[in-house]
Amino acid sequence: MSIVNVVTLDGPSGAGKGTLGVSLAKKLSYNYLDSGLFYRALALAAERHDVELNDKEGLKKLTNNLDIFFQVEVTSIIKLFLEGEDVTRELTLESTASRASILALDFGVRAALTARQRLFAISPGLVADGRDMGTVVFPNAILKFFLTANIETRAKRRYKQLLLRGDNVSLPAIWRQLEERDDRDAKRSASPLVPAKDAIKLDTTNMVPGEVVEAVMNIFVDRGFFK
Ligand code: DC
Repeated sequence: MSIVNVVTLDGPSGAGKGTLGVSLAKKLSYNYLDSGLFYRALALAAERHDVELNDKEGLKKLTNNLDIFFQVEVTSIIKLFLEGEDVTRELTLESTASRASILALDFGVRAALTARQRLFAISPGLVADGRDMGTVVFPNAILKFFLTANIETRAKRRYKQLLLRGDNVSLPAIWRQLEERDDRDAKRSASPLVPAKDAIKLDTTNMVPGEVVEAVMNIFVDRGFFK
């Protein structure tokens, strides 16, 4: 188990974990782990190596040999390299996320990726974002948050993000894909998307990102982490 302080942020897509995670890591001078990138990178690797999402043996091999590298830019944008190639853009596609959510059902895949994610818990500390950070990957985290927001808000946030990037997307399609993905993530038997028993729940539906960061920082102060 990790010996440095870990803060976990779990919740469905579009709840605001990523934006909060990056700000929080900056404020605390901690490392930041976007665990979804592992699943997305594996989904892309499977596509490129013609491995079907239900091919357990093929996925096992692929996961064990997954050659990925994270590079954090000064802008805090995380670039991900798969087999030496910058695949950051492909990873943000909603189709990659849907495939990631399908292979995330596999116990073997999860066990291998969990081991790699734990390696991020190094000094001076870690903010980890995902679905099972507080329940499975870092059960001893010092503070656990579970973020939610209603589906309309989450779909609109995701739609705006993709639109700003110049993608050709439709709100109804994004809405449907998010619902399908969240349903799959929450109902799976391997590390389902559920709040840890000791997680603090935060509904961000009516909050802007700055308010979410402020609310979380106030909780840190209340719990005596800062004077
Ligand atoms: O966080 P994200 O949207 O990038 O995640 C993409 C998919 O990866 C998500 O729908 C399910 C899977 N995932 C997971 O099962 N466990 C995690 N800790 C992170 C992501």
